[in-house]
Amino acid sequence: MKISIIGAGNVGSTLAERVLTYKLADVVLLDIIEDLARAKALDLSDASPLMGYEKRVLGTSDYKETCDSKVVIITAGFPRRKGMSRDDLIHKNGEIMRIVLKNIKTFSPDAILIVVTNPLDVMTYLAYKEIGGDRRKILGMAGNLDTARFKALLSQELGVSFEKIETLVLGSHGDTMVPLVSKTLINEKPLGSMLNRERIEDIVERTKKRGGEIVALLKSGSAYFSPSAACFEILKAIINDAKKTIPCSLVLKGEYGISDCAISVPAKIGKDGAEEILEWELPENELSALRNSAKAAKEMFDKCKKQID
Ligand code: APR
Repeated sequence: MKISIIGAGNVGSTLAERVLTYKLADVVLLDIIEDLARAKALDLSDASPLMGYEKRVLGTSDYKETCDSKVVIITAGFPRRKGMSRDDLIHKNGEIMRIVLKNIKTFSPDAILIVVTNPLDVMTYLAYKEIGGDRRKILGMAGNLDTARFKALLSQELGVSFEKIETLVLGSHGDTMVPLVSKTLINEKPLGSMLNRERIEDIVERTKKRGGEIVALLKSGSAYFSPSAACFEILKAIINDAKKTIPCSLVLKGEYGISDCAISVPAKIGKDGAEEILEWELPENELSALRNSAKAAKEMFDKCKKQID
């Protein structure tokens, strides 16, 4: 099995290393800067005898090499810099996405796509609009990343293993994301019985700002270990046909009363992509927060379309 990663930067190359380490698939690493993709692929391939990689990795800027990939992961684009929001990237990354999507449509029309490029929900919806076809095959990775961040912060705050924490973060990858406090269980007990409302709100806010906190510390570039890990988990569920519930950004057609945009919702992920979108019953405040998040994603998509058309 072959997968292709478009963009051999921080997220793309870290993801490639994970795919090889876990022997998931052969990897094509493609970048507009051919030497960068080739150098990273050669470096990874030199690590094979040391790390026991059995799968092959190729670096290129030629889309022909990506043909008939089972999954294509799109990380191509510019990352945020200090002081930028993800939405500030729409123009530049929107144009890059269009080129990438055109090539994917030509060389791997049946591939499942995982979108990493920001602003993530806008780019996921753009992928659907440009490629069309089965919406279950176009997934944005961010709900999984936001959930991991919320879990990590809860785990530190409560001194509890993240394995004992059940939670999900839905909505758009930005300030309007919706950590499902009502569905969060710590050792099977409701979060509200363990922390007061103020502490919970503080953790929710820190979750929303986590990406920006990392951008500010890095000075140039944005987070990549956790984004590539979030992406890896989705990829693994597809390749292993795991039918695992993972929150992903998906094109909605009426679910949760939302249409015409992509935001993160829980879905069963397996060999065909998001095989089932799960429509959970949510309390009124979380449902309206989710719809509000969808509204923000839609507005941003309209802005993106105006800028790149
Ligand atoms: N085709 C292929 N690759 C491209 C193109 C293009 N048209 N344009 C840019 N790239 C490549 C760049 O050359 C670079 O190597 O995309 C890569 C992006 O890598 P980084 O700059 O290291 O960014 P990264 O941290 O990997 O983030 C990529 O994911 O998390 C999001 O906001 C982030 O949108 C950004 C994306």
